[in-house]
Amino acid sequence: MMSVIQDAVGRHRVMPVLVIPELTMAAPLAEALAEGGLTVFEITLRTPCALDAMRVMKQAVPEALIGAGTVTTRERLIAAKVAGPGTTAELWAAGESEQMPILPGFSTASEAMRLMDLGFSVGKFFPAEASGGVKYLQALAGPLPEFQICPTGGITLESAPSFLACANVVCVGGSWIASADLLRQGDYSEIALRAKQAADL
Ligand code: 3PG
Repeated sequence: MMSVIQDAVGRHRVMPVLVIPELTMAAPLAEALAEGGLTVFEITLRTPCALDAMRVMKQAVPEALIGAGTVTTRERLIAAKVAGPGTTAELWAAGESEQMPILPGFSTASEAMRLMDLGFSVGKFFPAEASGGVKYLQALAGPLPEFQICPTGGITLESAPSFLACANVVCVGGSWIASADLLRQGDYSEIALRAKQAADL
């Protein structure tokens, strides 16, 4: 299961975090992201069509690796593939029993250590900017150098390079690539452009 996570965080340096309001947006969105060079997506389970959108996006871009975000309950985890941004003992146990690959969330050093105790080597730092950002990540690299991190929350095209320069950051996630405004406007060419900018980081 860990190899799926290693592929998810290692394939590209930026993972688009997607909030999809309408199912009709799923296929053109997946195609625009892939055109820009990104094929690992996090679909947040915050909209009614999110699970259907995951299936549609996989059909549109078969090589895509698609995970679910905002997995806050056992039920949501069982309905999805890769989880974040928070982790509870119940979610971890459900992931184990359901053989689900999990990218578990954390926001403190103690939570990262707990994840390491549970056998995780990669975690999702959320909300990254609000929890201390680059300085916090650099501080964690001292005592926990082997723990790999995907920060999300408040990261932009401009701030992503400083996160990616941290020794313990394997990739970053963010919603700027396919923002709510761009989706509402149906501006898939701008989404493809932003995906390319992100893929080039
Ligand atoms: C989220 O779950 O909302 C992500 O972490 C994305 O955060 P962002 O919208 O600040 O990029």
